[in-house]
Amino acid sequence: MTFTKVGSAIDLLYDRMVGVQASGKEVLVAKLKDRYYALGNVCTHNGCRLSGGKLRDGKIRCPCHGSVFDPANGKVLQGPAEKPVPVYHIKVENGSIWVDL
Ligand code: FES
Repeated sequence: MTFTKVGSAIDLLYDRMVGVQASGKEVLVAKLKDRYYALGNVCTHNGCRLSGGKLRDGKIRCPCHGSVFDPANGKVLQGPAEKPVPVYHIKVENGSIWVDL
């Protein structure tokens, strides 16, 4: 595994998500309760950035056409998207967020 630092844990509030670029990839980092998640930030339907959407009831909703993704595994919970977004390993160490890209 090759972890890349993507931000500071203190800057990511509960039930919030943020889009970052790291190692040439668009990554969505989300914090739900006490858990952190890292997924691809590009919707598989038509390429909108999921970071501009909503994080509600533990699910990520795309801002463009309403596809809903599960942050734990990237699976589509509601279309029109049909393909999952990639999921990355994430860890928090010494106050920093690291993602295995
Ligand atoms: S681009 Fe995300 S639902 Fe269409």
